[in-house]
Amino acid sequence: MYNNMSISFPIKENQGSISSAESGVVSHLDDLFSFYAEIAATYGTPFYLYDAAKIEEQVLSLRSLLPTENSDILFSFKSNPNPSVTGQMKIHGCRADLTSPGEIEAAQVAGFDLSKALYGGPGKSEGELIGAILAGIRSFSMESVHDLKALSGAAASVGESVKALLRINPQEAPKAKLAMSGVASQFGFEEEDLRSDGEEIMASAGPGVDLVGIHIYWGTQVGDAEALLDCFRRTVKIAEEISNDLRFPLEILNLGGGFPWPYSTIGVGPDLSPLTAGLEELFEESSAAKNAEWWFESGRFLCASSGTLVTRVMEVKTSKEKQFLILDTGIHHLGGMSGLGRIPRFSIDLEVPPSRANNEKIQVEVVGQLCTPLDCIGRRIKLPQVEPGDLVSVPNTGAYGPTASVLGFLSRPTPAEILHRDGEILSANRLRSGHETLEQRKSHHTHESH
Ligand SMILES: Cc1ncc(COP(=O)(O)O)c(C=O)c1O
Repeated sequence: MYNNMSISFPIKENQGSISSAESGVVSHLDDLFSFYAEIAATYGTPFYLYDAAKIEEQVLSLRSLLPTENSDILFSFKSNPNPSVTGQMKIHGCRADLTSPGEIEAAQVAGFDLSKALYGGPGKSEGELIGAILAGIRSFSMESVHDLKALSGAAASVGESVKALLRINPQEAPKAKLAMSGVASQFGFEEEDLRSDGEEIMASAGPGVDLVGIHIYWGTQVGDAEALLDCFRRTVKIAEEISNDLRFPLEILNLGGGFPWPYSTIGVGPDLSPLTAGLEELFEESSAAKNAEWWFESGRFLCASSGTLVTRVMEVKTSKEKQFLILDTGIHHLGGMSGLGRIPRFSIDLEVPPSRANNEKIQVEVVGQLCTPLDCIGRRIKLPQVEPGDLVSVPNTGAYGPTASVLGFLSRPTPAEILHRDGEILSANRLRSGHETLEQRKSHHTHESH
């Protein structure tokens, strides 16, 4: 169970709330850093602090941009499956975008209605799909003929009918920074194949699988409203043409997302307000798509701004004229995939305690405690001189934090994750780490999955 993966800390009454802020609202930097210090005294460092009010703000903001009658927001669990965060997404009416058995369990823990969830991702096994159907999921994003056959087998063995969306890898690439469509990839059916051999592809779906939708996810961090609209326009066009050619009803149109937000740097995302009129217009102009539910998936836009990583300065050290700021966090807690060179290196902003704000500026390499030069989360960062023992914080880290990092490397503790609203702590937990003993299995060489 997902519960086994997270440890909950007991919360004492009023613990961690900011005594100095009259209204209890965390606003002033002094208050914020004393709040951090109180939390550090209870839970240790480093920790992720999530602000529930920011999650609400982002969900409302995204909803206000989308066509009102037919749109739904799906929260992408991959961005942050922490029960405190997903619980807020549930409260604010998001559906679940899930891609693994662990995410299904996380959604169950958070109380999501799984009959409204979408299950996707490449390389799904029949066993995994059986588990998803038994858990109550009824909509699946299909990435290949293999996937369609596995879903058909799973639906038949459970004796349920399910809905399938064809995920498409379009011919042309979008303007997103990290394109996952329009380039060679493991995701989705090739648009060309659906246009040439669509009937044959559809025939691989068994009787328990109803083809009712199209799913296109162009990429993450799509630059601005105009680029997003460009993606959505293309999606509607491709979806209408393909559903028409293949003669299936377009009941669900998953337009993906890619709504941008800064990652671990100060600031906010670009102005997305032009989306409202643009999407309304697109909706009005569309034909088959007008009768469909429009689904939008989002991870980072919904939760990145809610998170702050608070960490302690362990040492400031000079080597060959470079200064190293050694923190008690690193690529095992933040940006691990980037540390490994899997995605472009990122840069961070470090916020320092107000008492240090006027200190002379230094330039540092921001590193952690792992025994590898790869454990570097910021290069040539300028900040006021800080001292060992100081708390410093990294903003906009509510998405792709712990679970997108190399958590197990070097076996250091996982960070505490704490949810608050207006300075009142609502929940605290941390991911389990370490090895657990497995019961010995008799059969070997099995590829069967669970
Ligand atoms: C299919 C799909 N949907 C949604 C997301 C969430 O993206 P983001 O966090 O940028 O909103 C991803 C991220 O990789 C994805 O692959």
